[in-house]
Amino acid sequence: MRRRRRPAGCQWATVLNDAHLPEDPEGQAEDLLNAIADSLAERGWGVFPHALPSALSQSLWQRATSLNHYQIAGVGRQDRHRRNRFVRNDETAWIEGDSEEETAWLDWAGRLREHLNQSLFLGLTEFETHFARYAPGAFYARHRDAFKGAENRVVSLVLYLNPAWQPADGGQLVLYDDGLRELGRFEPELGTVAVFLSEQHPHEVLATERSRHSIAGWFRRREANPVLAGALS
Ligand code: OGA
Ligand code: MN
Repeated sequence: MRRRRRPAGCQWATVLNDAHLPEDPEGQAEDLLNAIADSLAERGWGVFPHALPSALSQSLWQRATSLNHYQIAGVGRQDRHRRNRFVRNDETAWIEGDSEEETAWLDWAGRLREHLNQSLFLGLTEFETHFARYAPGAFYARHRDAFKGAENRVVSLVLYLNPAWQPADGGQLVLYDDGLRELGRFEPELGTVAVFLSEQHPHEVLATERSRHSIAGWFRRREANPVLAGALS
């Protein structure tokens, strides 16, 4: 795979929105995939506004706001890394590809997975993902998505589904480095994607003032020895 580098100062997001450019969805998508891989390689994280085609973000937003099977986070699926361990009060609904837009999201994530494997040799084999809904007042205290050495969740991916989010609405994602220094605060605006190395970046969701929708996902490596891994958990 070519490891194309972005030209210095390239605003790929602007490029994606520039109606005057010739249609080149494949080339544009490729630029974004390269930008994500570069960010992960160079600093372990990145936040990308307007990452998805806007029609897909819109339809995922509609799906997220119309679903009626959200469950209190931490119940509903065996998840030994997070069950009852962290302070959170969002609700989640796992995505299995039960609708056209869910399938399109899984396909988008699948292309990112392949790209990261080809450009960074990450060996990602699986992807798990869910919608998350934070009611007003909800938050998710600082946590890591994976523990050192567990080699399970490798890359975290979050897509935000909130049109016209304002700073006063709260609900920002706060990313930290491994030493708990704050790296930045990001609005959960419709179409924005956050990507980071799961073991290396603690993060939190500040209390939201408005109902806040997102999709969280994790690229994983298949456990080398599931029996041993189970025994150690
Ligand atoms: C998570 C998470 C961040 C966000 O679901 O593990 O950290 O901004 N989400 O929604
Ligand atoms: Mn998390």
